[in-house]
Amino acid sequence: MVSDQEGPRLLVLLSGPNLQLLGERQPEIYGRDRLQDHVARAAKAAAARGFELEHLQADSEKELVEAVHRSRGRAAGIVVNAGALSHYGWSLHDALAAFEGVVVELHLSNPAAREPWRHRSVIGPVADGLVAGFGSLGYELAVEAAARLISD
Ligand code: DQA
Repeated sequence: MVSDQEGPRLLVLLSGPNLQLLGERQPEIYGRDRLQDHVARAAKAAAARGFELEHLQADSEKELVEAVHRSRGRAAGIVVNAGALSHYGWSLHDALAAFEGVVVELHLSNPAAREPWRHRSVIGPVADGLVAGFGSLGYELAVEAAARLISD
């Protein structure tokens, strides 16, 4: 069972390495909002669609993989900004492949318009869709997309 019809359904938001530095880290690329600002907007967007949002930031692939495992059978969807792990985190790919709900890949910047090593995503093949390049709008757009894919 992935959703509890009695209460709010669950969306899990995962933030990968270095994203706790948002606001300070390369603001010309990632903007001035802090991770907690993005998460607050994402939680609001989730609540507006009847979802509870659970967020985890981790620098290690292990913790992110474990969070995906814990989401199995519990969450209706996962929104994931895996940071640089998006480009080489194959164990995160495999964990997401074993998750039965909706997966939305998220980036603040548009990796396709950046260095060549960012052009490949290993999350893309196991995601339902991608939100990238919308800066501070991205977190709420991705949550909105996940909630609507689940509900509509
Ligand atoms: C990012 C893009 C990645 O290429 C980069 O390694 C990040 C952030 C983004 O949100 O634009 O850490 O995922």
